[in-house]
Amino acid sequence: MSRRFTEPKLVVATHNKGKLAELRALLGDYPVELVSAGDLGLPEPEETEATFEGNARIKAHAAARASGLPALADDSGMACAGLDGAPGVYSADWAGPGKDFGPAMARVVRELAERFGSFAEADRAAAFVSCLCLAWPDGHDEIVLARSPGQLVEAPRGPNGFGYDPIFVPDGFGQTFGEMDPAQKNAISHRTRAFQLLKERCFTPA
Ligand code: IMP
Repeated sequence: MSRRFTEPKLVVATHNKGKLAELRALLGDYPVELVSAGDLGLPEPEETEATFEGNARIKAHAAARASGLPALADDSGMACAGLDGAPGVYSADWAGPGKDFGPAMARVVRELAERFGSFAEADRAAAFVSCLCLAWPDGHDEIVLARSPGQLVEAPRGPNGFGYDPIFVPDGFGQTFGEMDPAQKNAISHRTRAFQLLKERCFTPA
């Protein structure tokens, strides 16, 4: 049986101010005060699992245990079918310490071309994945996972978005996420879908 969120305060298990702002917008209609793990001075746990669920769990439970409050964590990335799901949970790591996604996108394209003989012949199916874990200090958690499926293109296109957006064309569209208007991307993104699932399961609007 799933548990609903009824507390007045929620820790967002991130040290990233952008993510906190994004969650504030997504939970705008709900009567909850958000505070980040960074603001509470909580340590950042190591993401040692090989799955999105595993890493979201590590982050949410660490923050819930340390703060004594319910905590929400997300883990996301891009999984390429032709690379057996890579870069997956290592999506951010492929960009290196400088968080440069030019070389990371080039690596995806190069590895597909190497494996299949050429990029044109490669399995270009990919999906962005977003996993959310809402954990309570007593150890209970609720987990949701959503995907945004699409196809990869060889040459990056478009100035919008971030990460791997310029080489990803979502199914049913002709533009990459990098070319799309941000509102259009948000309407179909993996993160929006995961939030919708979590809200339906756990949150009651004001
Ligand atoms: P996280 O902060 O560990 O969840 O890292 C997620 C990584 O996945 C990001 O650094 C991006 O590389 C990639 N990623 C996740 N969502 C998106 C998206 O919507 N567009 C492009 N890249 C994404």
